[in-house]
Amino acid sequence: MTVHPLRLAVLTRNLEPGRFGTTVTHWFASAADQHDEFKCDLIDLGRIDLVDLPARIAEADAIVIVTAEYNHAYPGDLKTAIDAVRHPWFAKPVAFVVYGGRSRGLRAAEQLRLVFGELHAVPIRDTLAFSETDFTETGHPVDPTTDPAAQALLTQLAWWSRPLREARASTPYPG
Ligand SMILES: Cc1cc2nc3c(=O)[nH]c(=O)nc-3n(C[C@H](O)[C@H](O)[C@H](O)COP(=O)(O)O)c2cc1C
Repeated sequence: MTVHPLRLAVLTRNLEPGRFGTTVTHWFASAADQHDEFKCDLIDLGRIDLVDLPARIAEADAIVIVTAEYNHAYPGDLKTAIDAVRHPWFAKPVAFVVYGGRSRGLRAAEQLRLVFGELHAVPIRDTLAFSETDFTETGHPVDPTTDPAAQALLTQLAWWSRPLREARASTPYPG
């Protein structure tokens, strides 16, 4: 861990035991903990009061959204949460870890890119996308390339996070 770790908010929708999203979120949070630049803040939308969300995002240098796909989009509760925050998203890198049925949540990720563009955020290119068959019953990815893909995504996120943190500190974002 570096002296001033980058603060990563992992925003997930619901950590109920037995849900696939819970498996994906715990796996990704564990991958983030293994990355030596990030300190992870796990935010469960099922447990947080939305009034408190802007302050948690304000503290973050980077954000990862973990979400399912519902009817070719991301779920409405996530949109409500995104809209409850405005300036704290500005000039922050955002990555997406998505899941669903056949689409593996990719259509949710594409729509989130549009939304975070409007919010002056920086959606990063790599996305991690899963269906339930991609994980074992004990919560590990089946494909051995998945853990390296998570570290690659985190390294891209860190690359954007460092200069954006400096830029926000030195000059107020003009938005
Ligand atoms: C209302 C609803 C709509 C869904 N629509 C899609 C869809 O369009 N594409 C897809 O791949 N999966 C779809 N799914 C499957 C979910 O993405 C999948 O079951 C996921 O694991 C649910 O995650 P959750 O427990 O976090 O809500 C849908 C599920 C629900 C409940």
